[in-house]
Order: sequence, then structure tokens, then C-alpha cells
Amino acid sequence: MEIKLKKVDKIEGVIGVPADKSITHRAVMLSSLAEGDSVIENYLPSDDCIRTMEAFKQMGAEIMAEGDTLFVKGAGLKLQKPQKEIYAGNSGTTARILAGILAGQNFASVITGDESLSKRPMKRVIDPLSEMGAEIGSENGSLPLKIKGKVPLKAIKYESNKSTAQVKSAVMFAGLYADGAITYIEPVKSRDHTERMMRAFGAKVETSGNAVTIYPAEKLIANEVCISGDISSAAFFIAAALIVPDSELTIKNVGINPTRDGIIEVLKKMGAEITLKNVEDVSGEPVADIKVKYSKLKATDVDAGLIPRMIDEIPIFALIAAQAEGITRITGAKELRVKESDRITAIRTQFEKLGIEIEELEDGLIINGHPGYELCGAAVESFGDHRIAMTLAVASLIAGGEMIIKDADCVNISFPDFYERLKSVCR
Ligand code: S3P
Repeated sequence: MEIKLKKVDKIEGVIGVPADKSITHRAVMLSSLAEGDSVIENYLPSDDCIRTMEAFKQMGAEIMAEGDTLFVKGAGLKLQKPQKEIYAGNSGTTARILAGILAGQNFASVITGDESLSKRPMKRVIDPLSEMGAEIGSENGSLPLKIKGKVPLKAIKYESNKSTAQVKSAVMFAGLYADGAITYIEPVKSRDHTERMMRAFGAKVETSGNAVTIYPAEKLIANEVCISGDISSAAFFIAAALIVPDSELTIKNVGINPTRDGIIEVLKKMGAEITLKNVEDVSGEPVADIKVKYSKLKATDVDAGLIPRMIDEIPIFALIAAQAEGITRITGAKELRVKESDRITAIRTQFEKLGIEIEELEDGLIINGHPGYELCGAAVESFGDHRIAMTLAVASLIAGGEMIIKDADCVNISFPDFYERLKSVCR
């Protein structure tokens, strides 16, 4: 599908965004592995999360959707052997975390994925899980993964050279099936939704700085979870309100977990008028309403220390930086090259079409921002990457002439009704 979008006068209103993708994956996984009936309120019914739901249905969990609530009858920690391959689609989170769970089962299984996911690195999960005793077959460290589980897995201490919540979570889930406590250490703390939710389902998890220790579990206990809005989806609306003159927008019920809120911290530093209201705890995660006003922004630098806290927001952040006064340098973000697309090249090539001054680094981008500069409308590519498509859609709001986004329906990966919701706040 191709979509055509045009400049707007302003962004205004009060909206919500869909539920958090990371948290939905984890809620489905933990409730499927638990004993008893769990309820997941406000889940995200996007393509990626549906892959996780289908995987667990194949292995004995009963998952029923009613409106925006999921009712899950868990299969317990020992899953049933799936009758066929498990297809993770476009979802790195499904493939990688599931690898950790399958490593602890007493059967062999296979994980496959779509063209994009089949190019993404899996060695990062193969290494620790093999060290724990699972046998994982893979050509060139990519999908399909042929996993022969080991019962029990061996307890290890693993020091990762990357900050990645998917790998950390894979090892943590595998840790539930180990013969002793497992410690995982990462350079900068990545998102900690697994740590928080595992505890709520009865697992013993200890954290200290960037280290997490997980103890083997006999069982997990069913729970009720309510999922807040995804800050990574809210970021597109924060950006729209910040760069379209005269805008004012409130985004309700957004997760502001401190391992995910780097975008808010950086934007505030750049001079953004962003206020958090009604801060509360929902199912062990901090949540707030975010009020954003059009703001005059100044350039800043973003480096490796901050990247894990805003990894998925870099495409939209780059667009905001193009409207800030001065040069913004993003470094330490090499991981962007192995996301749903090579996001560094995707951003650079498509932003150039819009007239943005941008330079590609091996591990980031340099953007020369000009406040108020009207972008050029152009025919642009999403590369089938949801976050690139949404970034370009937000760019169209300040572009003269028509923006034509190819392969625009990839937004279904994380934000199925993105274009409708965006339209609802455009004036
Ligand atoms: C995710 C972790 C991050 C993030 C992805 C979701 C998760 O990936 O980019 O969108 O749910 O654990 P990495 O673990 O590769 O950093």
C-alpha cells in the first residue's frame, strides 16, 4: 500500500496510543508459561505481538481475545512440542526471547521469520544459550534456528558487550530452566520490562546496577496485567506537536519506564515544552499523560550512554533534530544497522530527498538542523520498516508538496491504526 500525505496547519487534541509492544510480548509469554488463568488488559493486537500469541498457542497455551483484553490459560513452564515450525514474522523480540524459552524444553523446535528478520543477527542469542547447554543449529548466525533444548540448562554468568533487552530476556527466560542462578551483565541497562513482570508472575529476580540475577523456577503464577501506551508510538505524536507551529497535544496513558524515557530527557534538554501529568504505577510500570507544545529547539548530541534508552526513537528523533537550531550528532548507535531495516542508511537516504542536511556515520548520523525549514514532499521508501514509515509520515506534516510513502502498511507491526490516529489530531 502507498499513502499520500500533505502539510497541516497544526496538531491539536487529546489522544491515546496503542499498548506497549515490548510489554505485550512479555505478558503473553509469561502468562502462557504460568499455571492458571491470566488476564491481559489493553494488549497490542499488532502483527509482531500476534506472532508471539500464535507461537504459544502452538505449544499448548489457550489465548482468547475479547475486545482489547486477552484471557490466557497457561501451559506451564513445560510447553508442548509444536507440530510445525514457529514463524516469528518480522518480530525480533518473538524470535530471540522465544529461543531462550525453547532452549529449556525437552524437545526440538525450529524458529523461522520473514525476509527482514531472516537477515538479522541471532548469534547474540545462540552464544549464551549454547553456553548453557542448548544445541542451536543456524547457518551464518541467522534464522531459521533449529533448537534442541536441554533439561536442565547450565547456570552461567554472562557478560554481554551489547545492551539488548531481547538477549537479556532470552537468557532470563532460559534461567527459569537452569540448574542454578544465572547472572547477566550488560554495558548500559536496557529496558527492564522482563525483570519487572517476571517478579509479578512469581519468579525470583535480583538486580544490581547493570546486572540481573535470575533463579530457576518450579512454576510461574497466573496474574492480571494492564498494559500502558507505548512511548515508542507516542514519540511520533510528540514529534508532530513539537515541529508543527502552534501545536498543543496531550497523549494519555503512556509508559515512562526510566529505561525507555531517553527521548523525553533529550528533547527537554533541547528546549522542548513537555510536561508529564497524572504519573502513576500501573502493573509495576510508571505511566503518565504527556503534554507537548510546539517548541523552539536547540541541537544536542546523543551518545552510547543514552542510546539504549531511546533506541527505537532514533528515526523520529533525527527528524526532530532537523528542525532544531544547529548540528546534532548521534553516535554509538550501530545497532540501528540491524533493526527491521538498516535505519542509518534508510534515514539518511530518505531525509536527503526531503532536503535535510544529513551525514551518515558507521554508528550514527550528523544532522544540520534549521528551525522552520519547510521540507520537500517526495516519493519516499519505508523499506518495510514501521518506524521509518511513521517518521516519514510525520515529516509530511511540515513538507510543501505531496509526500508519497511506499510500503506504508508496515505500520501494522507496532501501530495498526497509525494514519487514522495521526489524521485525528491534524488541523
Ligand atoms: C525490544 C528490545 C530492543 C528494541 C525492540 C524491542 C524488546 O531491541 O529495539 O524494538 O522488546 O526487548 P534490542 O534488544 O535488539 O536492543
